[in-house]
Amino acid sequence: MSAPTKAPEKAEKKATVKRAIKPTEQAHPAQASQPAKRERVFSGIQPSNIPHIGNYLGAIRHWVAEQDRYDNIYCVVDLHALTIPQDPAELRQNTRNLAALLLACGIDPKRSALFVQSHISAHAELAWILNCVTPTGWLNRMTQFKVKAGEDREAASTGLYDYPVLMAADILLYQADGVPVGDDQRQHVELTRDIANTFNHRFGETFVEPRALIREVGARIMALDEPDKKMSKSGAEPSYLSLLDPPEVIRKKIARATTDSQRTIVFDESRPGIYNLLTIYQMLGDESREQVETEFAGKGYKEFKAALADRVIAALEPIQRRYAELASDPAQLDALLAEGAARVRPLAEQTLRLAKERVGLI
Ligand code: TYM
Repeated sequence: MSAPTKAPEKAEKKATVKRAIKPTEQAHPAQASQPAKRERVFSGIQPSNIPHIGNYLGAIRHWVAEQDRYDNIYCVVDLHALTIPQDPAELRQNTRNLAALLLACGIDPKRSALFVQSHISAHAELAWILNCVTPTGWLNRMTQFKVKAGEDREAASTGLYDYPVLMAADILLYQADGVPVGDDQRQHVELTRDIANTFNHRFGETFVEPRALIREVGARIMALDEPDKKMSKSGAEPSYLSLLDPPEVIRKKIARATTDSQRTIVFDESRPGIYNLLTIYQMLGDESREQVETEFAGKGYKEFKAALADRVIAALEPIQRRYAELASDPAQLDALLAEGAARVRPLAEQTLRLAKERVGLI
């Protein structure tokens, strides 16, 4: 049987695969009073550094806001972090810190399962099976690999190359309907759909084909110093606002953010610097674009940047306060993460069992 060669980026078809196995809604206490109709979402974030305001506005904030709408599974993807060299002690610390920060942002363990990827071995196992149905040509097209591997592609780890297949396993294990992510993950979710579709065609319906849930606004927050580039955890210090930056650092970074030589403070996409800062300002408030533009009509960059810094500081202050409390109790955090994993493990194992059976493993 030959592997289909359809390009992932062409895969725009509707998700047609029904849940092939009964999800374990009963394993979610928060679901007890809900009909089993809620769509499931899965998303992940890497513990490679402290998240920045782009991660927050593009993903985390939506996870938090929509917890009552979906059946939610969120994951600290430590196996993904291993695809680039990590200091083991730092990785351990970053994993716990990130979990604490997600809780501080408002992920509620009663409504969302939060766990660490490596605590459920089915992720790595399913990734292997999916590797065997994923043509290398599909992986060769992944733009994020090209960016992350840089000039010396031969030196990049095999894990970095194979990263999107592990990501597909993350999503497909839980039969997720939706994957709330920023714009940079769109291609990976499309690849996931293609992998699911290929597998289902070859072996019978096994996986739900998920769709990316990407917002129109804030799905691509740009770097402060180079607004034509995406804000990234691996960027230089002045390029991003970390969720744990103290107020004076926030003020300094925003004051130095690149704008342009024009004066008006308006949402003009041809002026990426000011457009990006205005987007952050608008998203952290509750106003329309018009209201924001009216607020700054006749004012200069200095006033706008001061107002933006005030708004960012005010938004992050309660998060930072809760984070300090949560991070100071690693034992409680570990217990919470173990509970999150225990809650979703049966579903992951059920899907893995089915996939193994389908491909002929005895
Ligand atoms: P990661 O850790 O790079 O980013 C976490 C989330 O933040 C979004 N994001 C942004 N959104 C707006 N503007 C930006 N500048 C920006 N930078 C990052 C990302 O799109 C993401 O939603 N591969 C994933 C982690 C992952 C995953 C998964 C996600 C692993 N398995 C399964 C969903 C489902 C990643 O590296 O995200």
